[in-house]
Amino acid sequence: MRRSVIAGNWKMNLGFGEAADLVNSLTKLNYNTEQKDVIIAPSFVYLSELGKIAKDSNIKVYAQNFYYEDSGAFTGEVSIEMLKNIGVAGSIVGHSERRMIFHETDEVINKKIKAAVAHKFPVIFCVGETLEQRVAGVHEEVVTAQVGLGLEGISEKDMEIITIAYEPVWAIGTGKTASSDDAESMHKAIRNFLGKKYNKALADNVRILYGGSVKPENISELMAMENIDGALVGGASLKADSFAKIINY
Ligand code: 13P
Repeated sequence: MRRSVIAGNWKMNLGFGEAADLVNSLTKLNYNTEQKDVIIAPSFVYLSELGKIAKDSNIKVYAQNFYYEDSGAFTGEVSIEMLKNIGVAGSIVGHSERRMIFHETDEVINKKIKAAVAHKFPVIFCVGETLEQRVAGVHEEVVTAQVGLGLEGISEKDMEIITIAYEPVWAIGTGKTASSDDAESMHKAIRNFLGKKYNKALADNVRILYGGSVKPENISELMAMENIDGALVGGASLKADSFAKIINY
C-alpha cells in the first residue's frame, strides 16, 4: 500500500507573516499521519524559520529547487548540503516553471536527481506535457521520455528517495484540471514505464502525484484513481482552509 502525499508548492508567493500563519494553522490540523504525508515547499528564504514552526508536527518542509554541486562559485544557487544544514527534508525538482522559465534541461534535472541520491535527499520529480504536445497526441511519449531522461543512471535502490509528480503544463494555474481518467491513464503509463525500466515491484511502490489546478472540489475524484497517490498543489495550498480541505479530502 502506497502512503499518500499532499504537497503544497508555494512558488514565489506569500509574505513571511502570511507563510508563518499558514504553517501554524497546518500544524494544528488533524489528519491520518499513518497513511498520509503532508509537505510544504515555501520560498528558500523562509525555510529555516518555517521549519522551526513545523518542527514538532508531522508537516515536512521541502525546498522548491536546489543546485547539484555541493559548494563553490555558483552565485545565487543553494546546495543540498545547505538545505540539510537547516533541516530541510527534501525538495521539488524539475518543475515545469524551472524547465520553461529558467531553461532547465532534462540533463540538468538528471544531475540534480543524481546529487539528491548521493545525499539521500528525497525529491518530488516533476514531469508533464504542454498543450501542443497533448493536442498532437504525443503526451505519453513526451512524459515517459522526461521520466527516463531524469532517471538516467538511477538504480532501483536509488529510487527510494524519489516521488514522481505528473503536472500537465496546461493545467498549472489555469483552473483546468486534467480529467481524473486522463490523469489516471498518464499515471498508469508512467508506472508501466518504470515497470519496464526497473521491475513491477518497484513500479508498484513508487508514488506518483498529480498536479495542476487541484482544488477541494476535485481532490476526492483524483484520489479515487488507482494510480494517483497524492497531489502537488499550487494556488489552493496558499490558503489554510482550501489546503486543509485538500489534505482531509
Ligand atoms: P496550481 O495548483 O496552482 O495549478 O499549480 C500546480 C503546480 O504547479 C504545483 O507544483
